[in-house]
Amino acid sequence: MRKRMTIDRKFEHLMLCAAEEVESGKTGLEDVSFVHNAIPEIAKSDIDLGATFLQKGFASPLFIAGMTGGHKEATAVNAALSEAAETCGIGIGVGSQRAAVEHPELIESYSIVRERAPSAFVVANIGAIQAKEYNLETIERLIDMVDADALAIHLNFLQEAVQREGDTNAERCLDAIKSLSKSLRIPIIAKETGAGISQEAAVRLQNAGASAIDVGGAGGTSWARVETYRARTDRLLKRLGGLYSNWGIPTAMSIVESRVLPVIGTGGIRNGLHIAKCVALGASLCGVGLPLLRLAFEGPESVINEIAAINEELRVAMFLTGCRTLAELKTRPLIITGKTKEMLQQRGFNVADLQVRR
Ligand SMILES: Cc1cc2nc3c(=O)[nH]c(=O)nc-3n(C[C@H](O)[C@H](O)[C@H](O)COP(=O)(O)O)c2cc1C
Repeated sequence: MRKRMTIDRKFEHLMLCAAEEVESGKTGLEDVSFVHNAIPEIAKSDIDLGATFLQKGFASPLFIAGMTGGHKEATAVNAALSEAAETCGIGIGVGSQRAAVEHPELIESYSIVRERAPSAFVVANIGAIQAKEYNLETIERLIDMVDADALAIHLNFLQEAVQREGDTNAERCLDAIKSLSKSLRIPIIAKETGAGISQEAAVRLQNAGASAIDVGGAGGTSWARVETYRARTDRLLKRLGGLYSNWGIPTAMSIVESRVLPVIGTGGIRNGLHIAKCVALGASLCGVGLPLLRLAFEGPESVINEIAAINEELRVAMFLTGCRTLAELKTRPLIITGKTKEMLQQRGFNVADLQVRR
């Protein structure tokens, strides 16, 4: 019964995200801007979007965030997303692979990603709760299922806390990460799913052996919002979902907080200017979820066109700041205002380091 629930829930999440207003909206990137360079002195055609993350090269820093798998409808979605990843030379994650453990007949909905993206950087995915429950052999099977280059261990305790069937025993997750980091042959990415990662959490994850952080910051897809739709007539769940819809560390802030490790900036990234800002704040890659998921229902072409448009938006930001490479973009001064500036200062970050750079 519980096993069946995993599939039904995943399907419901996918459909709600495709159709409803599930974004919380404020990533903090609205408080970040570049200083326009009126005389960039570079040819736009020379700009190289190439990115590096965990010793791998990517054609651009856009990363397709792990979202789906584990039910029949997910196979076509993952096929479209992975074909796009392969064509565009970028990385891709799959959604939680828990359903494949409970229902081996659904393995194809994940393995299709490696089939359609034979040369892409593919990230496997399990929850922190499963990381402590599953034995090493099971986790290695999930990694092999997509021939993964890295394993994302997702931290989604906000979502667990506001849903009926949520698993809220968060004890011993760090121990599980520590033990896996010693045993696995691929790196671990510790990944939030919409509430962001603080510096304190990033340091603990680093000490446990995580090789990178996917910030999964607040401002994009909000799981509290998604669960509000699922709550239907359950008043308490609706209340909880509503109250915590904007909970978390916004993406811009979480990138700065997590810079102790290589960072994927995810959560509300909707265009190439967002990516430029995330890179300038310290991200190596930027994860895009919801918009690409919605386009994947139309097929790979729509996803590829969107990725090309986002890349072009990023290229224009680089041109107007006089940057030929992402490394140069990281040195450009930023103007940081409003709530993000205040929060960074309250948290003890030196905002001037981001504002005045050489
Ligand atoms: C339908 C859907 C399913 C998701 N499932 C997972 C999951 O299984 N594991 C995970 O780590 N993140 C999952 N995510 C979170 C995304 O990876 C990403 O962190 C989040 O959606 C924020 O990015 P966005 O604002 O661009 O959507 C899911 C997101 C969506 C929209």
